[in-house]
Amino acid sequence: MTNAENRKTVNIALIGTGFMGKEHAKAWSLSPVSCPDILATPVKKILCDNDEARVVERAKLWGFEEYTTDYHEILERDDIDIIDICTPAFLHADMAIDAIKAGKFVFCEKPMVTTMEDGQRLMQVVRKYNANGRTAVGFNKRRWPAVQYARKLVKEGAIGRILLYNGRYCQNGVMFRKVNLPNRKWWKTGGFADSGSHIVDMCRYILDDQYDSLVARAYPLVDDLPVRAPAEGEDPAAIPTAKSECEDFSLVIANMKSGITASLYSSSAYGGSGEDISFEIHGTDGSIRWSGANPSVLQICEQPRTRAEVGFKSILMGPAHPYGNSIPPMPGFGVGVVDQMSFQVLEVVNACVSGETYNPSFEDAWEIVKVCDKIRQSEQKKEWVSVD
Ligand SMILES: NC(=O)c1ccc[n+]([C@@H]2O[C@H](COP(=O)([O-])OP(=O)(O)OC[C@H]3O[C@@H](n4cnc5c(N)ncnc54)[C@H](O)[C@@H]3O)[C@@H](O)[C@H]2O)c1
Repeated sequence: MTNAENRKTVNIALIGTGFMGKEHAKAWSLSPVSCPDILATPVKKILCDNDEARVVERAKLWGFEEYTTDYHEILERDDIDIIDICTPAFLHADMAIDAIKAGKFVFCEKPMVTTMEDGQRLMQVVRKYNANGRTAVGFNKRRWPAVQYARKLVKEGAIGRILLYNGRYCQNGVMFRKVNLPNRKWWKTGGFADSGSHIVDMCRYILDDQYDSLVARAYPLVDDLPVRAPAEGEDPAAIPTAKSECEDFSLVIANMKSGITASLYSSSAYGGSGEDISFEIHGTDGSIRWSGANPSVLQICEQPRTRAEVGFKSILMGPAHPYGNSIPPMPGFGVGVVDQMSFQVLEVVNACVSGETYNPSFEDAWEIVKVCDKIRQSEQKKEWVSVD
Protein backbone atom coordinates (compact mmCIF):
# COMPACT_ATOMS: atom_id res chain seq x y z
CA MET A 1 0.00 0.00 0.00
CA THR A 2 1.27 3.47 -0.80
CA ASN A 3 2.16 5.48 2.27
CA ALA A 4 0.15 8.70 2.38
CA GLU A 5 3.29 10.71 3.06
CA ASN A 6 5.06 9.34 0.00
CA ARG A 7 2.16 9.56 -2.37
CA LYS A 8 2.94 11.85 -5.26
CA THR A 9 0.42 13.93 -7.17
CA VAL A 10 -0.46 13.94 -10.88
CA ASN A 11 -2.18 16.90 -12.46
CA ILE A 12 -5.20 16.16 -14.62
CA ALA A 13 -6.69 18.12 -17.51
CA LEU A 14 -10.11 16.82 -18.51
CA ILE A 15 -11.54 17.77 -21.93
CA GLY A 16 -15.30 17.36 -22.36
CA THR A 17 -17.87 17.92 -19.63
CA GLY A 18 -20.72 15.78 -20.97
CA PHE A 19 -21.85 12.33 -19.95
CA MET A 20 -18.42 10.71 -19.79
CA GLY A 21 -16.66 13.85 -18.62
CA LYS A 22 -18.81 13.72 -15.51
CA GLU A 23 -18.14 10.01 -14.92
CA HIS A 24 -14.40 10.61 -15.28
CA ALA A 25 -14.53 13.59 -12.94
CA LYS A 26 -16.22 11.40 -10.33
CA ALA A 27 -13.54 8.74 -10.78
CA TRP A 28 -10.67 11.23 -10.49
CA SER A 29 -12.26 12.38 -7.23
CA LEU A 30 -12.99 8.93 -5.80
CA SER A 31 -9.84 7.02 -6.72
CA PRO A 32 -7.47 8.49 -4.09
CA VAL A 33 -10.05 7.71 -1.42
CA SER A 34 -11.10 4.24 -2.51
CA CYS A 35 -7.95 2.82 -4.12
CA PRO A 36 -5.12 2.34 -1.61
CA ASP A 37 -2.83 1.02 -4.36
CA ILE A 38 -2.92 4.23 -6.38
CA LEU A 39 0.63 5.55 -6.82
CA ALA A 40 -0.31 9.23 -6.97
CA THR A 41 -3.21 11.42 -5.99
CA PRO A 42 -4.92 12.95 -9.04
CA VAL A 43 -5.31 16.71 -8.82
CA LYS A 44 -8.23 18.08 -10.83
CA LYS A 45 -6.24 20.93 -12.33
CA ILE A 46 -8.08 22.15 -15.40
CA LEU A 47 -11.42 21.42 -17.04
CA CYS A 48 -12.02 22.18 -20.72
CA ASP A 49 -15.15 22.43 -22.82
CA ASN A 50 -15.88 24.61 -25.82
CA ASP A 51 -19.23 25.46 -24.22
CA GLU A 52 -18.21 28.31 -21.93
CA ALA A 53 -21.25 28.47 -19.67
CA ARG A 54 -21.02 24.76 -19.08
CA VAL A 55 -17.31 24.66 -18.32
CA VAL A 56 -17.50 27.62 -15.93
CA GLU A 57 -20.29 25.97 -13.98
CA ARG A 58 -18.87 22.45 -14.00
CA ALA A 59 -15.33 23.43 -13.07
CA LYS A 60 -16.80 24.91 -9.92
CA LEU A 61 -19.20 22.06 -9.17
CA TRP A 62 -16.71 19.29 -9.87
CA GLY A 63 -13.80 20.89 -8.01
CA PHE A 64 -11.40 21.78 -10.84
CA GLU A 65 -8.94 24.54 -10.04
CA GLU A 66 -9.21 26.20 -13.47
CA TYR A 67 -11.12 26.02 -16.71
CA THR A 68 -10.61 26.81 -20.39
CA THR A 69 -12.66 26.69 -23.57
CA ASP A 70 -9.63 25.96 -25.76
CA TYR A 71 -7.76 22.70 -25.24
CA HIS A 72 -4.67 24.11 -26.96
CA GLU A 73 -4.05 26.14 -23.79
CA ILE A 74 -3.60 22.87 -21.89
CA LEU A 75 -0.95 21.63 -24.32
CA GLU A 76 1.33 24.53 -23.49
CA ARG A 77 1.20 23.92 -19.74
CA ASP A 78 4.18 22.22 -18.08
CA ASP A 79 2.19 21.35 -14.99
CA ILE A 80 -0.27 18.97 -16.69
CA ASP A 81 0.63 15.26 -16.51
CA ILE A 82 -2.45 13.50 -17.90
CA ILE A 83 -4.85 14.76 -20.57
CA ASP A 84 -8.17 12.95 -20.34
CA ILE A 85 -10.18 13.21 -23.58
CA CYS A 86 -13.96 12.84 -23.16
CA THR A 87 -15.15 14.67 -26.26
CA PRO A 88 -17.25 13.25 -29.10
CA ALA A 89 -15.30 10.47 -30.77
CA PHE A 90 -14.72 12.20 -34.11
CA LEU A 91 -12.57 14.76 -32.25
CA HIS A 92 -10.34 12.21 -30.50
CA ALA A 93 -7.70 11.82 -33.21
CA ASP A 94 -6.73 15.49 -33.48
CA MET A 95 -6.82 16.06 -29.73
CA ALA A 96 -4.78 12.93 -29.00
CA ILE A 97 -2.21 13.80 -31.69
CA ASP A 98 -1.78 17.26 -30.21
CA ALA A 99 -1.50 15.86 -26.69
CA ILE A 100 1.13 13.28 -27.71
CA LYS A 101 3.15 15.95 -29.47
CA ALA A 102 3.00 18.01 -26.28
CA GLY A 103 4.51 15.05 -24.41
CA LYS A 104 1.51 14.34 -22.20
CA PHE A 105 0.17 11.01 -20.98
CA VAL A 106 -3.03 10.65 -23.01
CA PHE A 107 -6.13 8.91 -21.66
CA CYS A 108 -8.78 8.84 -24.39
CA GLU A 109 -12.34 7.59 -24.28
CA LYS A 110 -13.38 4.85 -26.66
CA PRO A 111 -13.81 4.57 -29.56
CA MET A 112 -10.27 5.80 -30.07
CA VAL A 113 -11.15 7.08 -33.58
CA THR A 114 -14.14 6.88 -35.91
CA THR A 115 -12.40 6.28 -39.23
CA MET A 116 -9.49 4.18 -40.42
CA GLU A 117 -7.88 7.32 -41.86
CA ASP A 118 -7.92 9.02 -38.45
CA GLY A 119 -6.56 5.84 -36.89
CA GLN A 120 -3.67 5.68 -39.33
CA ARG A 121 -2.87 9.36 -38.77
CA LEU A 122 -2.93 8.91 -35.02
CA MET A 123 -0.88 5.71 -34.98
CA GLN A 124 1.81 7.31 -37.15
CA VAL A 125 2.26 9.97 -34.48
CA VAL A 126 2.14 7.42 -31.62
CA ARG A 127 4.95 5.47 -33.30
CA LYS A 128 6.98 8.51 -34.37
CA TYR A 129 6.97 9.85 -30.81
CA ASN A 130 7.40 6.36 -29.30
CA ALA A 131 4.41 7.29 -27.15
CA ASN A 132 2.42 4.07 -26.87
CA GLY A 133 3.62 3.55 -23.30
CA ARG A 134 2.01 6.86 -22.38
CA THR A 135 -1.45 6.18 -23.76
CA ALA A 136 -4.65 4.60 -22.45
CA VAL A 137 -8.10 4.03 -23.95
CA GLY A 138 -11.27 3.97 -21.86
CA PHE A 139 -12.45 0.39 -22.26
CA ASN A 140 -13.73 0.61 -18.72
CA LYS A 141 -15.78 -2.60 -18.87
CA ARG A 142 -12.50 -4.48 -18.34
CA ARG A 143 -12.35 -2.98 -14.87
CA TRP A 144 -15.34 -4.80 -13.45
CA PRO A 145 -13.93 -7.20 -10.84
CA ALA A 146 -16.24 -9.93 -12.20
CA VAL A 147 -14.87 -9.47 -15.73
CA GLN A 148 -11.31 -9.74 -14.49
CA TYR A 149 -12.19 -12.76 -12.39
CA ALA A 150 -13.81 -14.44 -15.40
CA ARG A 151 -10.58 -13.91 -17.34
CA LYS A 152 -8.63 -15.52 -14.49
CA LEU A 153 -11.00 -18.52 -14.34
CA VAL A 154 -10.71 -19.01 -18.09
CA LYS A 155 -6.92 -18.86 -17.89
CA GLU A 156 -6.86 -21.38 -15.03
CA GLY A 157 -9.06 -23.81 -16.96
CA ALA A 158 -11.89 -23.69 -14.41
CA ILE A 159 -14.42 -24.60 -17.11
CA GLY A 160 -12.09 -26.73 -19.20
CA ARG A 161 -11.22 -25.98 -22.78
CA ILE A 162 -13.17 -23.00 -24.07
CA LEU A 163 -15.55 -23.89 -26.89
CA LEU A 164 -17.69 -20.81 -27.41
CA TYR A 165 -17.88 -17.16 -26.38
CA ASN A 166 -20.99 -15.04 -26.72
CA GLY A 167 -20.91 -11.28 -26.05
CA ARG A 168 -23.87 -8.99 -26.19
CA TYR A 169 -24.40 -5.23 -25.92
CA CYS A 170 -27.90 -3.88 -26.22
CA GLN A 171 -29.09 -0.31 -25.86
CA ASN A 172 -32.35 1.46 -26.62
CA GLY A 173 -31.36 4.66 -28.48
CA VAL A 174 -33.37 3.82 -31.56
CA MET A 175 -36.56 3.51 -29.52
CA PHE A 176 -36.31 7.18 -28.54
CA ARG A 177 -35.54 8.64 -31.94
CA LYS A 178 -38.44 11.11 -31.76
CA VAL A 179 -37.25 12.70 -28.53
CA ASN A 180 -34.21 14.48 -27.23
CA LEU A 181 -31.03 12.48 -27.79
CA PRO A 182 -28.43 15.00 -26.68
CA ASN A 183 -25.57 12.57 -26.35
CA ARG A 184 -25.91 10.64 -29.58
CA LYS A 185 -24.11 11.87 -32.67
CA TRP A 186 -25.52 9.10 -34.79
CA TRP A 187 -23.86 9.95 -38.02
CA LYS A 188 -20.48 10.68 -36.53
CA THR A 189 -19.62 8.10 -33.93
CA GLY A 190 -20.76 4.94 -35.68
CA GLY A 191 -22.99 2.38 -34.07
CA PHE A 192 -21.07 -0.83 -33.71
CA ALA A 193 -17.65 0.80 -33.69
CA ASP A 194 -18.86 2.93 -30.77
CA SER A 195 -20.70 0.81 -28.19
CA GLY A 196 -19.93 -2.46 -29.94
CA SER A 197 -16.22 -1.83 -29.56
CA HIS A 198 -16.66 -2.68 -25.87
CA ILE A 199 -17.71 -6.24 -26.66
CA VAL A 200 -15.05 -6.64 -29.34
CA ASP A 201 -12.57 -5.72 -26.62
CA MET A 202 -14.10 -7.81 -23.82
CA CYS A 203 -14.02 -10.98 -25.90
CA ARG A 204 -10.33 -10.73 -26.73
CA TYR A 205 -9.52 -9.55 -23.19
CA ILE A 206 -11.33 -12.35 -21.36
CA LEU A 207 -10.10 -15.06 -23.72
CA ASP A 208 -6.64 -13.47 -24.04
CA ASP A 209 -7.01 -14.07 -27.74
CA GLN A 210 -7.10 -12.24 -31.09
CA TYR A 211 -9.59 -12.23 -33.95
CA ASP A 212 -8.67 -14.33 -36.96
CA SER A 213 -11.65 -13.96 -39.29
CA LEU A 214 -15.28 -12.93 -39.09
CA VAL A 215 -18.56 -12.60 -40.89
CA ALA A 216 -21.13 -9.99 -39.96
CA ARG A 217 -24.50 -8.44 -40.57
CA ALA A 218 -24.24 -4.83 -39.45
CA TYR A 219 -26.62 -2.12 -40.62
CA PRO A 220 -28.85 0.81 -39.60
CA LEU A 221 -32.32 -0.17 -38.40
CA VAL A 222 -34.43 2.93 -39.04
CA ASP A 223 -34.55 5.85 -41.45
CA ASP A 224 -35.71 8.65 -39.19
CA LEU A 225 -33.04 9.52 -36.66
CA PRO A 226 -32.68 13.18 -35.64
CA VAL A 227 -29.61 14.70 -37.26
CA ARG A 228 -28.80 16.73 -34.16
CA ALA A 229 -29.85 17.40 -30.61
CA PRO A 230 -32.45 20.15 -30.14
CA ALA A 231 -31.29 23.58 -29.06
CA GLU A 232 -32.71 24.92 -25.83
CA GLY A 233 -36.46 25.44 -26.19
CA GLU A 234 -36.53 23.91 -29.67
CA ASP A 235 -39.28 21.44 -30.52
CA PRO A 236 -37.53 18.07 -31.06
CA ALA A 237 -40.20 17.19 -33.64
CA ALA A 238 -38.98 20.09 -35.82
CA ILE A 239 -35.47 18.66 -36.16
CA PRO A 240 -34.80 17.05 -39.54
CA THR A 241 -34.31 13.34 -39.56
CA ALA A 242 -32.10 11.19 -41.74
CA LYS A 243 -31.12 7.62 -42.25
CA SER A 244 -28.37 6.63 -39.86
CA GLU A 245 -25.08 5.82 -41.55
CA CYS A 246 -23.96 3.56 -38.76
CA GLU A 247 -24.78 0.11 -37.52
CA ASP A 248 -27.64 0.14 -35.05
CA PHE A 249 -27.61 -3.64 -35.22
CA SER A 250 -24.74 -6.08 -35.61
CA LEU A 251 -24.42 -9.81 -35.46
CA VAL A 252 -20.89 -11.13 -35.77
CA ILE A 253 -19.50 -14.64 -35.89
CA ALA A 254 -15.77 -14.71 -35.38
CA ASN A 255 -13.03 -17.31 -35.39
CA MET A 256 -10.50 -16.45 -32.75
CA LYS A 257 -6.82 -17.28 -33.37
CA SER A 258 -7.04 -20.01 -30.72
CA GLY A 259 -9.85 -21.71 -32.65
CA ILE A 260 -12.61 -20.59 -30.28
CA THR A 261 -15.81 -19.46 -32.00
CA ALA A 262 -17.17 -16.14 -30.75
CA SER A 263 -20.49 -14.49 -31.46
CA LEU A 264 -21.14 -10.82 -30.78
CA TYR A 265 -24.56 -9.23 -30.84
CA SER A 266 -25.21 -5.52 -30.60
CA SER A 267 -28.48 -3.65 -30.92
CA SER A 268 -29.65 -0.08 -30.37
CA ALA A 269 -33.28 -1.18 -30.57
CA TYR A 270 -33.46 -3.03 -27.31
CA GLY A 271 -36.47 -1.47 -25.62
CA GLY A 272 -35.89 -3.33 -22.36
CA SER A 273 -32.86 -1.37 -21.20
CA GLY A 274 -30.65 1.60 -21.99
CA GLU A 275 -27.58 -0.42 -21.14
CA ASP A 276 -27.38 -4.19 -21.24
CA ILE A 277 -23.94 -5.73 -21.63
CA SER A 278 -23.26 -9.38 -20.94
CA PHE A 279 -21.27 -12.47 -21.91
CA GLU A 280 -21.46 -16.24 -21.68
CA ILE A 281 -18.48 -18.55 -22.04
CA HIS A 282 -18.96 -22.25 -22.62
CA GLY A 283 -16.19 -24.74 -21.90
CA THR A 284 -15.84 -28.51 -21.98
CA ASP A 285 -16.36 -28.64 -18.18
CA GLY A 286 -18.73 -25.78 -17.48
CA SER A 287 -19.89 -22.27 -18.28
CA ILE A 288 -19.44 -18.74 -16.98
CA ARG A 289 -21.84 -15.88 -17.45
CA TRP A 290 -22.06 -12.25 -16.41
CA SER A 291 -24.40 -9.33 -16.96
CA GLY A 292 -23.70 -5.64 -16.42
CA ALA A 293 -27.22 -5.42 -15.02
CA ASN A 294 -25.91 -7.25 -11.93
CA PRO A 295 -22.22 -6.45 -12.17
CA SER A 296 -21.09 -7.66 -8.74
CA VAL A 297 -22.17 -11.22 -9.47
CA LEU A 298 -20.33 -13.73 -11.65
CA GLN A 299 -22.11 -16.97 -12.35
CA ILE A 300 -20.26 -20.21 -12.88
CA CYS A 301 -21.44 -23.72 -13.59
CA GLU A 302 -18.75 -26.33 -13.08
CA GLN A 303 -19.06 -29.94 -14.20
CA PRO A 304 -22.13 -31.17 -12.25
CA ARG A 305 -21.68 -34.46 -10.39
CA THR A 306 -25.17 -35.61 -11.38
CA ARG A 307 -27.99 -34.36 -13.58
CA ALA A 308 -29.74 -33.36 -10.36
CA GLU A 309 -27.08 -30.70 -9.74
CA VAL A 310 -27.19 -28.83 -13.02
CA GLY A 311 -27.21 -25.06 -12.48
CA PHE A 312 -25.17 -21.93 -11.97
CA LYS A 313 -23.57 -20.80 -8.72
CA SER A 314 -23.41 -17.04 -8.05
CA ILE A 315 -20.08 -15.65 -6.88
CA LEU A 316 -20.37 -12.31 -5.06
CA MET A 317 -17.48 -9.97 -5.69
CA GLY A 318 -15.64 -9.03 -2.51
CA PRO A 319 -12.20 -8.54 -0.97
CA ALA A 320 -10.82 -11.78 -2.49
CA HIS A 321 -11.44 -10.53 -6.03
CA PRO A 322 -9.67 -8.03 -8.29
CA TYR A 323 -9.69 -4.51 -6.77
CA GLY A 324 -10.94 -6.20 -3.58
CA ASN A 325 -9.18 -3.72 -1.31
CA SER A 326 -11.02 -0.84 -3.01
CA ILE A 327 -14.56 -2.01 -2.31
CA PRO A 328 -16.55 -2.60 0.87
CA PRO A 329 -15.22 -5.69 2.66
CA MET A 330 -18.46 -7.70 2.67
CA PRO A 331 -19.18 -9.70 -0.52
CA GLY A 332 -22.65 -8.67 -1.62
CA PHE A 333 -22.25 -5.02 -0.67
CA GLY A 334 -21.92 -4.34 -4.35
CA VAL A 335 -19.61 -2.69 -6.85
CA GLY A 336 -21.01 0.17 -8.93
CA VAL A 337 -20.10 2.08 -12.06
CA VAL A 338 -18.34 4.80 -10.08
CA ASP A 339 -16.15 2.15 -8.43
CA GLN A 340 -15.37 0.56 -11.78
CA MET A 341 -14.47 3.93 -13.30
CA SER A 342 -12.22 4.65 -10.34
CA PHE A 343 -10.39 1.33 -10.92
CA GLN A 344 -9.77 2.51 -14.47
CA VAL A 345 -8.32 5.76 -13.14
CA LEU A 346 -6.19 3.78 -10.66
CA GLU A 347 -4.66 1.85 -13.58
CA VAL A 348 -4.16 5.01 -15.66
CA VAL A 349 -2.41 6.85 -12.82
CA ASN A 350 -0.25 3.83 -12.01
CA ALA A 351 0.78 3.42 -15.65
CA CYS A 352 1.62 7.13 -15.86
CA VAL A 353 3.70 7.07 -12.67
CA SER A 354 5.36 3.65 -13.05
CA GLY A 355 6.03 3.83 -16.80
CA GLU A 356 4.40 0.44 -17.33
CA THR A 357 2.29 0.29 -20.49
CA TYR A 358 -1.43 0.57 -19.85
CA ASN A 359 -3.65 -2.04 -21.39
CA PRO A 360 -5.41 -1.20 -23.65
CA SER A 361 -2.90 1.29 -24.95
CA PHE A 362 -3.42 3.05 -28.29
CA GLU A 363 -1.67 0.17 -30.11
CA ASP A 364 -4.05 -2.29 -28.50
CA ALA A 365 -7.12 -0.13 -29.15
CA TRP A 366 -6.04 0.23 -32.78
CA GLU A 367 -6.54 -3.55 -33.12
CA ILE A 368 -10.13 -3.06 -31.91
CA VAL A 369 -10.71 -0.28 -34.44
CA LYS A 370 -9.46 -2.60 -37.19
CA VAL A 371 -11.81 -5.39 -36.11
CA CYS A 372 -14.76 -2.97 -36.14
CA ASP A 373 -13.76 -1.90 -39.65
CA LYS A 374 -13.67 -5.57 -40.73
CA ILE A 375 -17.20 -5.97 -39.40
CA ARG A 376 -18.32 -3.14 -41.66
CA GLN A 377 -16.37 -4.64 -44.59
CA SER A 378 -17.97 -8.04 -44.08
CA GLU A 379 -21.43 -6.46 -44.20
CA GLN A 380 -20.52 -4.65 -47.42
CA LYS A 381 -18.99 -7.68 -49.12
CA LYS A 382 -21.46 -10.15 -47.62
CA GLU A 383 -18.63 -12.56 -46.96
CA TRP A 384 -16.12 -13.77 -44.40
CA VAL A 385 -13.13 -11.45 -44.02
CA SER A 386 -9.82 -12.17 -42.40
CA VAL A 387 -8.53 -9.91 -39.64
CA ASP A 388 -4.85 -9.21 -40.25
N1 LIG B 1 -16.72 4.11 -21.84
C1 LIG B 1 -18.02 4.21 -21.88
O1 LIG B 1 -18.73 3.39 -21.31
C2 LIG B 1 -18.65 5.36 -22.63
C3 LIG B 1 -19.99 5.68 -22.44
C4 LIG B 1 -20.51 6.77 -23.12
C5 LIG B 1 -19.71 7.51 -23.98
N2 LIG B 1 -18.42 7.15 -24.15
C6 LIG B 1 -17.55 7.88 -25.07
O2 LIG B 1 -17.15 9.11 -24.45
C7 LIG B 1 -16.94 10.11 -25.44
C8 LIG B 1 -17.79 11.33 -25.08
O3 LIG B 1 -19.15 10.94 -25.10
P1 LIG B 1 -20.26 11.70 -24.21
O4 LIG B 1 -21.44 10.82 -24.23
O5 LIG B 1 -19.68 12.14 -22.94
O6 LIG B 1 -20.52 12.97 -25.15
P2 LIG B 1 -21.26 14.32 -24.73
O7 LIG B 1 -21.82 14.88 -25.97
O8 LIG B 1 -22.17 14.09 -23.55
O9 LIG B 1 -20.09 15.27 -24.18
C9 LIG B 1 -19.10 15.75 -25.02
C10 LIG B 1 -18.58 17.05 -24.45
O10 LIG B 1 -17.48 17.49 -25.27
C11 LIG B 1 -17.61 18.90 -25.45
N3 LIG B 1 -16.88 19.30 -26.65
C12 LIG B 1 -17.25 19.14 -27.95
N4 LIG B 1 -16.31 19.68 -28.76
C13 LIG B 1 -15.33 20.16 -27.95
C14 LIG B 1 -14.10 20.83 -28.20
N5 LIG B 1 -13.67 21.09 -29.46
N6 LIG B 1 -13.33 21.19 -27.14
C15 LIG B 1 -13.74 20.93 -25.88
N7 LIG B 1 -14.91 20.30 -25.58
C16 LIG B 1 -15.69 19.92 -26.62
C17 LIG B 1 -19.11 19.11 -25.56
O11 LIG B 1 -19.46 20.47 -25.33
C18 LIG B 1 -19.62 18.17 -24.46
O12 LIG B 1 -19.64 18.80 -23.21
C19 LIG B 1 -17.32 9.46 -26.78
O13 LIG B 1 -16.16 8.99 -27.39
C20 LIG B 1 -18.20 8.30 -26.38
O14 LIG B 1 -18.20 7.23 -27.29
C21 LIG B 1 -17.87 6.11 -23.48
